[in-house]
Parts: sequence; C-alpha cells; structure tokens
Amino acid sequence: MDKLQIEGGTALQGKIRVSGAKNAALPILAGALLTADPVTISNSPHLQDVTTMIELLASLGVEVTLNENMQVEIVAATLSSFRAPYELVKTMRASFLVLGPLLARFGEAEVSLPGGCAIGSRPVDQHIKGLEALGAEIVVTDGYVRARAPGRLIGCDIHMDVVTVGGTQNLLMAATLAAGTTRLYNAACEPETVDLANFVNALGAKISGQGTSTIEIEGVERLHGGTHRIMPDRVEAGTYLVAAAVTGGSVHLRDVAPQTLGAVLDKLQQAGAHIDVGDDWIALDMQGRRAKAVDIETSPYPGFPTDMQAQFMTLNALSEGTSTITENIFENRFMHVHEMKRLGAEIELHGHSMAVVHGVGELRAAPVMATDLRASSSLVLAALAATGTTTIDRIYHIDRGYETIEEKLGQMGAKVRRIS
Ligand code: UD1
Repeated sequence: MDKLQIEGGTALQGKIRVSGAKNAALPILAGALLTADPVTISNSPHLQDVTTMIELLASLGVEVTLNENMQVEIVAATLSSFRAPYELVKTMRASFLVLGPLLARFGEAEVSLPGGCAIGSRPVDQHIKGLEALGAEIVVTDGYVRARAPGRLIGCDIHMDVVTVGGTQNLLMAATLAAGTTRLYNAACEPETVDLANFVNALGAKISGQGTSTIEIEGVERLHGGTHRIMPDRVEAGTYLVAAAVTGGSVHLRDVAPQTLGAVLDKLQQAGAHIDVGDDWIALDMQGRRAKAVDIETSPYPGFPTDMQAQFMTLNALSEGTSTITENIFENRFMHVHEMKRLGAEIELHGHSMAVVHGVGELRAAPVMATDLRASSSLVLAALAATGTTTIDRIYHIDRGYETIEEKLGQMGAKVRRIS
C-alpha cells in the first residue's frame, strides 16, 4: 500500500494549476446516460473516483473513450445492463448518481445502497422520496434499490427535507426527461450542481434556478449530444491555499474559479493571509507570519464547505489562539483529530460535531494514517508544517481526490515522496 513521506518545515512557494472538479465530473459523467448521442467532456481530473465512474458506465454497456486531447467521449446509445453493483457503489458513493438518469431514460435501474462510510451513515432517503414523487416504483431489497417507471416520469413539486447535493443532482437529472415541470425546493446551491445543470442544458434540457434553492426543470422528450468543460476544483484549490498559509509561504493558483471559494477566502483573510484575486487566479501570501485562529462552522453552499473543515483544523492547530470548529453536515467527520494529536496538536472533541483547537507553536513528525479523503489532506498539510519527516499510510484516500498531489506540492518546493 502506498505511503507519502513528507519532510516538513519549508515555507511553500510556487504556482499551481487547479484541476477539474471531481465533484462536478462525477455527476456529469453519470448525466451522459441521459442521451443516446455522443457527449464530450473536457477538463476531467485524472482521479481514482473518475476511473470508478467510467468503469461503472462501461459495465452498463456505455462506450467510453479518451481522445487525443485527453477529453472523455461517451456514447450511451444502447445499454446491456441497468445495474450498479455493490462492489462499485461501496468504493464510491457517487455511483448512486446513475439511478436518476437510468430511470428517466430507460425506465428501470437497480443500484446498490451505498451503505455507511467513514464519515457517517449518509442515507439516500431524499433521493428515493423524490423519485417516488416523480412516479417511480421503488423497492429496496437485498441491499439494492430497484426502481421502475413503466411510462415516463411525471414532473411535480418536490420539497427536500435536508439540503443534499447528491439528492438534488439525482432528481435534477431524472426530471430533465419527465413529462411536465418539476420544481425542487430546498435544493443544493453548490457550484458543482450548477455545473451539472449547465451541462444538461447544453444537451437540450430546460433547467433554470440552478445555484438557488429552487430549481425548475421543464421536462423534454429527449436530449442530444454536446460538449462541456468541467469547472475548476474548489476543494483542491482551497487545500493548496491552506498549504501555503500553514507553512507561512505563498502560492499562485491558476485555472481556478475564485467566486466559488468565497467562504474559504474570507476565513484565510481573517487568519491573516494576504489574498489577491483575478478572473481565474488567486494569489495568497502569508509573508512568513503565523496564522491567527479562526472559528469555523460548516454549512451548505455558500456557507463554509465541510470538505475544507479538516484542512482548516490543521491551520488552526498551528495558529495563534484557540478556535472552535463545528461540523454541521456529517455526523462523524473528525477522524483526523486523533491522527493530528499524534503530531502534537491540542484538540478537544465535544461530542460528534464540535472541536476546540488550541493552537500550538510546533507540530512534530510521527507516523499517521489517512482515514478518508479530506482527512488525509489535512494530515498532508500538518506534515508539511511539522518538524521532521512524517509518513502517511493509506494514501489511496488522497488519490481519490487530488490529482498528482506530490508533483503539485513539489512545484511549491515541498519535499514529498511516494513510497510503497
Ligand atoms: C457531496 C459531495 C461531498 C460533500 C457533500 C456535502 C460529491 C460526489 N460529494 O456528497 O464531497 O462533502 O456533498 O457538501 O459531490 N442526507 C440525508 N438524506 C439523503 C441524502 C443526504 O439525510 O437522502 C444527509 C447526509 O447524511 C448529510 C447531508 O444530507 O448529512 C449532506 O449530504 P449530501 O449533500 O447528500 O452529500 P453527498 O451528495 O453524498
């Protein structure tokens, strides 16, 4: 199993290109099932999760090829299966996103329940409730969601009980081919959902209100082919900004969408970072200073993203002062705390959703283990700032979400090696 070996203590400095967003690529690849015509996707990141989604599409009988410009070409003309098996769904929850498009276009789907994961139980009740409201017949047996829609799905008003990114995306895709108009209330406003809506609109869908809490989808009979460029990854961008901040360094990010990082940039500024922003670039300079502690409370977009919570825990662990971190989205997303304490961080957990972080002057290297995707990036950041050489085990979690992380950190002067 691969490990990362990081010699810490260097103030990082450099320029980095931000990759396409994993969390936009996954629903968009699933959305390609909505049309029989060819779809071309550019700026898709090379990540394990994207490979898993491509494998899933191929297992359904979809033709997926990578062209000479590294664009993904997808033709879902005819399918040989409508089943997403447990083996794939358990490795990546986003596989569940094929349910809506399969049901809408082919009238049937059999998708494994995702089950629990390291960061909590993560139910899919809102996806199921919404699809039933659209007229699907759904039975959950033997760990599978078996869904049928003998005629077309029928548009309706759907009020979601919680703000769910995946739920909004599944229902949005299902409703594009429904008869009549669907309104999704309490919808997720995340930029990746907007990117998905823009992609399906490019295929001929009629979606409006994306990026607000009410999305309206006027169903159409069929979608045609098209092309789409995946938006930049705001979590990858945020992680490299924190990497510069936590080491007292500076970074210039290009091919980024600064407007999607508002809450994160605000907190970095509060922590003492100097930030400049252009249309598609962000420059952060910590000017060698130690960060000031900042309180963080996660909430749906445009609030502070749960996917950046662990990285800010690292920043706070080394900051001047004491901070509170409140996790409101997932019930068990503090797995990194125990590992960070091994590096000398002083963090108290209060129940499942609150942590109090007392900033220390120094972290010291120790062997640590990655537990989930964003937790592992927080350990990489801690190791970059720590004195000595830290080995991080189980970094396959990182490879799910960060394209060529050791190369990109290397471009900032970090001493990072992958070892087996
Ligand atoms: C997506 C992101 C993930 C991010 C999360 C929250 C992808 C591939 N993943 O995950 O990186 O951390 O959004 O921004 O885009 N819930 C229910 N019932 C449901 C669905 C969700 O109660 O039917 C709850 C979940 O348990 C959780 C909350 O809603 O507490 C948010 O989950 P959701 O927004 O659905 O997260 P994902 O789409 O799985």
